[in-house]
Amino acid sequence: MLSRIKKSYEIKESLITPEDIYNERRNILKLMGILGLSSVAGIDILEANASQNIQINQNNYPYKIDLEFNKTPLTPYQKATTYNNFYEFGMQKDDPYHRAEVLKTSPWDLVIDGEVEKPIKISLEDMIKRFGLKERIYHFRCVEAWSMNIPWLGFELGKLIDFVRPKSNAKFVLFETVVQEDMPAIKNPSIAAYIKFPYKEGLRLDEAKNLLTMLAVGMYGKVLPNQNGAPLRLVVPWKYGFKNIKSIVRMTLVEKMPISTWNKLDSSEYGFYANVNPDVPHPRWSQANERFIGEGFSFDRIPTKLFNGYGEEVAKMYAGMDLKRNY
Ligand code: MTE
Repeated sequence: MLSRIKKSYEIKESLITPEDIYNERRNILKLMGILGLSSVAGIDILEANASQNIQINQNNYPYKIDLEFNKTPLTPYQKATTYNNFYEFGMQKDDPYHRAEVLKTSPWDLVIDGEVEKPIKISLEDMIKRFGLKERIYHFRCVEAWSMNIPWLGFELGKLIDFVRPKSNAKFVLFETVVQEDMPAIKNPSIAAYIKFPYKEGLRLDEAKNLLTMLAVGMYGKVLPNQNGAPLRLVVPWKYGFKNIKSIVRMTLVEKMPISTWNKLDSSEYGFYANVNPDVPHPRWSQANERFIGEGFSFDRIPTKLFNGYGEEVAKMYAGMDLKRNY
């Protein structure tokens, strides 16, 4: 959201680029589904199923690949994990990659309170066991006009919301990021004066329960890296990236529209809804197109789609609303 200063990245050896494997695996599964086959090119279903397993928190949790949500080409893992916004760890794009190691992610509990019949504190492991995991590749669009295609691993937030039984007056969900004293920005007066932590975000209840909305615990078949919001982050693919709050520790169901971090900082630039919309420019830049971050270095821009291309799933929630006023 702030101006970008280019730096050369120092890439760790462990950062590999598994997108070829992903595409191949998905293509095989799709082909098997379409043709009703149990075996394609010598790869049988058992092997394909085995490749859907992921190790998370020392346990093997199986996950399903949701082929309905597929976007190509994938952004390389190395880019998605070194070009980040996570201001608790600094203002530059590579700060989170270099500094987020200090984030303590285990044990991790999520508190859900406010207007619910069943307020709870639930561990990450309990959520994974209870709600299961699926992988979906979503297009991710930042308000700074860059985009990525990322395979997320997580579960539908709606399942968790139903579990705590919202009261009839619950209309919005307020999310909060953890605050840990080792986070560099918490101690840095120049950043802390600018952004008030904890980072907060909000969704309308129907948005939170939309089938696209996920709580992610992993990406690219791996546990979420700290810089991407470990161990639990929000993924709302039709909204600008800043709505996708990281390292969530609290969700509070409330009656009134909550004030989010960016909305509070400058409501003329960052609205509550933040739905991707090529026709509503940000005061400092156009939103008509975007720079896709893929393989290589490209300055080519692609047109931005209304609701980031997810209109079929979400447009009905905004029927009759003036999207220019409710940006
Ligand atoms: N969540 C927290 N807690 N702190 C942040 O600074 N930045 C937001 C969002 N979630 C942010 C956050 C912004 S501006 C963006 S674009 C996305 O995270 C970036 O996600 P990524 O780094 O995984 O691409």
